[in-house]
Amino acid sequence: MKNHARGIFTYLLLAMLSTACSPSDPIEFQKPTGEKYRPNYHFTPETGWMNDPNGMVYLNGTYHLFYQHFPDSTVWGPMHWGHATSTDLVNWEQKPIALYPDSLGYIFSGSAVFDSENSSGLGTKENPPLVAIYTYHDPEGERTGSQTFQTQGIAFSMDQGETWEKYAGNPVLPNPGIRDFRDPKVRKIKNEAGVDQWIMTLAVRDRIHFYQSQDLKSWELLSEFGENLGAHGGVWECPDLIPLETPSGSQKWVLLVSINPGGPQMGSATQYFIGDFSEGEFIPDDTMIRWLDYGPDNYAGVTWSNIPESDGRSLFLGWMSNWLYAQVTPTESWRSAMTIPRELELFEVSGTLLLKSSPAAEVKKLRIQEYSIADQSALPGESFEFLSDITSESFSFSLFNDSGERLLISMENGLVTIDRQNAGNTRFHPDFAAAHAAPMSWKAKNLRLFADAHSVELFINDGELVMTSLVFPDAPFNQIEIQKGLSGSKIYSLQKSMPD
Ligand code: FRU
Repeated sequence: MKNHARGIFTYLLLAMLSTACSPSDPIEFQKPTGEKYRPNYHFTPETGWMNDPNGMVYLNGTYHLFYQHFPDSTVWGPMHWGHATSTDLVNWEQKPIALYPDSLGYIFSGSAVFDSENSSGLGTKENPPLVAIYTYHDPEGERTGSQTFQTQGIAFSMDQGETWEKYAGNPVLPNPGIRDFRDPKVRKIKNEAGVDQWIMTLAVRDRIHFYQSQDLKSWELLSEFGENLGAHGGVWECPDLIPLETPSGSQKWVLLVSINPGGPQMGSATQYFIGDFSEGEFIPDDTMIRWLDYGPDNYAGVTWSNIPESDGRSLFLGWMSNWLYAQVTPTESWRSAMTIPRELELFEVSGTLLLKSSPAAEVKKLRIQEYSIADQSALPGESFEFLSDITSESFSFSLFNDSGERLLISMENGLVTIDRQNAGNTRFHPDFAAAHAAPMSWKAKNLRLFADAHSVELFINDGELVMTSLVFPDAPFNQIEIQKGLSGSKIYSLQKSMPD
């Protein structure tokens, strides 16, 4: 059975079972089925290494997810674009590898667009192409000390993403003599004259370059942004430029920029800027440093392109890891998972605009059964969603198991903390055992926590503050204890939507 079909079958079966149970039924712990730490509902590659999400594009009812992939090992190596598809963002079907390295280099991160007018001429008016825009990384050039080993190339698909052909004229954007020159994110916008224009947002060492094109093949530099602005503890990577509506109904542009190292919790993280994009230039509203996710494990995330206007959401997915220890986490046949899909929106606190990332509505499809819970309760399995109202300025709760491992989540003095120091295996890297704190300077009203085999994702006020954290308990957490500051707590057991 195809993974997707199997997912729907499991969902229907579990939905049928769930209607037979009432919230007061005792919680029965579901034993994990697959390889230790294999997530039940987070996307992972079948085997081998994965990092950044790439080329995320929606077309005719299908969400495409491509990703940085090395199929021959569980550590980083010659990069390919792996491929998976979904019709609902939670059940994923693995597809054959979409792009293989070639004589121009490894296939690094990038994006994909639907060229609906066939502006590239790579398809036809009747059958317009999907076009992927990615970075070529030439390992030989890097080894021999060249500065120009990263260039941009394109590939196209005439069968809705099933198969891809590289453009014969690659590279389409040669390197101007700068070592770090990568991760093109392309979006179609209307310029001031009302003319459609492709805008490429590119990470160039410690800043962003904006390019424009009419045909996705020839690119002209418009402007650069970011020197001496924002966080600069490491190289800038994987940008995304996103139009979003403010709560008062005007339009702003949000520029996501991943940075490694230099994040708030050591290693990798994603910062963002809010401003205007006009006449080819990004002008930030202020010089404040803002972080998309205050946890240690959400990196290189970007949004899906070509989401229909009737939907209108900005849908985001991140790589749920951190370059600090990504290559030594304790999994066997595969390494790394993606976050749950999230929706990005602007909200305002005391006159300041900030970016909120809430779980995409589709994630609710994973719910099997609801349990209301007392101060100490059994957990229904290793995948669950925990919801609570926050009734005080401080709260704390923990997840624990029979081996005495405990993950502590709390808020005290305006700091939300996830403490994974004694929550399982931390031996694989000296910086993994840590308590990560994030400032919450406005009222925390409620929380949602998504737990899976080796992760927790904490959403305060439905995403006004987010923390994503990996955790590797020796045995799954099977109990939750609420110490203080929470009421109306409930848990949903979550279905398995990914294969073993
Ligand atoms: C970010 C990144 C990108 C690059 C890719 C290589 O995690 O370093 O800048 O394109 O990974 O795999």
